[in-house]
Amino acid sequence: MTFTVAIDGPAAAGKGTIARAVAAHFGMAHLDTGLLYRAVGAKVLAGAAPEAAARALTPDDLKGEALRTQAVAEAASKVAAIPEVRAALVAFQRTFAARSDGAVLDGRDIGTVICPAAQVKLYVTASPECRAQRRLDELAAKGIAGTFETILAEVRARDARDSERATAPLKPAADAVMLDTSDLSIEEAVARAVAEVAARRG
Ligand code: C5P
Repeated sequence: MTFTVAIDGPAAAGKGTIARAVAAHFGMAHLDTGLLYRAVGAKVLAGAAPEAAARALTPDDLKGEALRTQAVAEAASKVAAIPEVRAALVAFQRTFAARSDGAVLDGRDIGTVICPAAQVKLYVTASPECRAQRRLDELAAKGIAGTFETILAEVRARDARDSERATAPLKPAADAVMLDTSDLSIEEAVARAVAEVAARRG
C-alpha cells in the first residue's frame, strides 16, 4: 500500500524543511513540487512557451541553484496560474506519490488536487512578517542584501497570486492539520509534523 504525506502552505513557511525532515525520518522519498513550476518559469524566462516547457520537463531540469532566485520564483508563480501548465505536471506528481516506499510531496495543491486521498495532510503556515524575516535571514546568510519591506511586499504579492488564482489556488484541504510555525523553532515544527505522520502510519 502506498503512503502519501501532503504538505502545503505559502512560501517560506517552513514546509520544505519540514518535508525533507519527515521524509528522512520515515525513509520516504521527497518531492519539492515548487521545483517543477520553477523549472517551467526558468524556461519561460529563457524564451520558451509555458505549456510546451511544462510538457517537455525532465528530472534534470529540476537541478541547480539557478532555480532558487527571486526572478524564477516570480516566473514560477505566474506560469503556475496557467491551467494547461498545471495539467501537464499532474501525472509526474501522482506517479511520484504512488512510490511503494511512501512519499512526501510539498507544494500548494498537494492535499487539495494532486493527492486528495493522502493519508496525512499538513498545512504549514506562518505570518507574512515572520516569513519575510526568515527570507531576509536566509539571504543575509548567503551574503545577499535586502530590506524587510521589499521582501514583505514580495511575500504578500506571491501569496495573493497563489491564493487568488482560479485553478488549484493555495488553500488548506478540509481535512488538513494546520501547523502555524510563527512561534516554533525548526525542531519543534519538525517534531509536530513527525508526530502527525507517526500517529497515522501506525
Ligand atoms: O514553493 P516554491 O516557492 O518553490 O514555489 C514556487 C511557485 O510555484 C509558487 O509561488 C506557486 O505559484 C507555484 N507552485 C504551485 N503549486 C505547487 C508548488 C508550487 O502553484 N504545488
